Amino acid sequence: MNHLLSALRGAGEATRLRIIALLSKGELTVGELVQILDQSQPRVSRHLKLMGEAGLLNRFQEGTQVFYRLANDGVAGSLNAALVDILERDVEVLEGDIQSLVSIRQERADKAQSYFQENAADWNRLRSLYVAEEQVEAELLKQQGQGQIRSLLDIGTGTGRMLELFAPQAEQALGIDVSRAMLNIARANLDGKDLGHAQVRLGDMYELGLEEASQDLIVFHQVLHFAEFPARALDEAGRVLAPEGKILIADFAPHEEEFLRDEHAHRRLGFEDGEIEQWGNSTGLKLNTLSHLDGGKLRVTIWNFGKKG
Ligand SMILES: C[S@@+](CC[C@H](N)C(=O)[O-])C[C@H]1O[C@@H](n2cnc3c(N)ncnc32)[C@H](O)[C@@H]1O
Repeated sequence: MNHLLSALRGAGEATRLRIIALLSKGELTVGELVQILDQSQPRVSRHLKLMGEAGLLNRFQEGTQVFYRLANDGVAGSLNAALVDILERDVEVLEGDIQSLVSIRQERADKAQSYFQENAADWNRLRSLYVAEEQVEAELLKQQGQGQIRSLLDIGTGTGRMLELFAPQAEQALGIDVSRAMLNIARANLDGKDLGHAQVRLGDMYELGLEEASQDLIVFHQVLHFAEFPARALDEAGRVLAPEGKILIADFAPHEEEFLRDEHAHRRLGFEDGEIEQWGNSTGLKLNTLSHLDGGKLRVTIWNFGKKG
């Protein structure tokens, strides 16, 4: 009863209901909430603090930015779900907020797109600046093992390096990416490498357009830190993963290189081990192994997931 009362008190205010509705669309930073709500930072921070104390929100700090997410467990999680359901019916009141949210996201997506557009030709150099690339690739191959891969899916294939790495073991290989500029380079890279069974095409990690349970090996190599909704991308990958298949995710461990956000379009400064593990767990995946590689400027983590029994 006490938990419920404190959650109700935490939610019972107009701005806080708007915050709940906004965060139901995905995690946001304080700065983004300030921009959408059009209120001062101290005021918004105060609401967030009270909501955090009531268990309605989870907060995490990353470099100079603080992100908020709706709690989805316990009494406060159930209250959030019920409120979101009611708030979604009251479209008019929240319409302006959702429009602002959509335009903020569009701005960010455009920025990331133009980053890859501008840097496509130079990507192979940029991708190895912070990472012990050979070490990561050797570990990825080890995690996959010697077995034949019937269908390989490389999500956010970029210049197609993961296809080059795994396609020799695969009967069919597909790389998808939202950037045409990156795909053009990937096609040029794959040409002449005797990998005629490897193809790339325009596609979105949130809507793969592939059949359920159709892919044996799915790779996300240095992709999720660009993603607006990494958990959703993992959910979609889990949907198309074959029962005995594997998802390999290679990404940065938490770091504080803020300029990667400012200059290289990163949305997240790496991920905690447990953060990605939990997203996997809640979408029907189980973590097979976790590895950390320290040979580059930044630490790289590899999450190896299978489907739950
Ligand atoms: C850092 S690059 C990594 C490329 C590649 N995996 C590699 O190992 O070099 C990230 C790629 O993710 C792509 N990307 C970003 N958002 C995406 C989305 N929603 N769906 C598919 N690809 C996306 C970008 O266009 C970019 O090519």
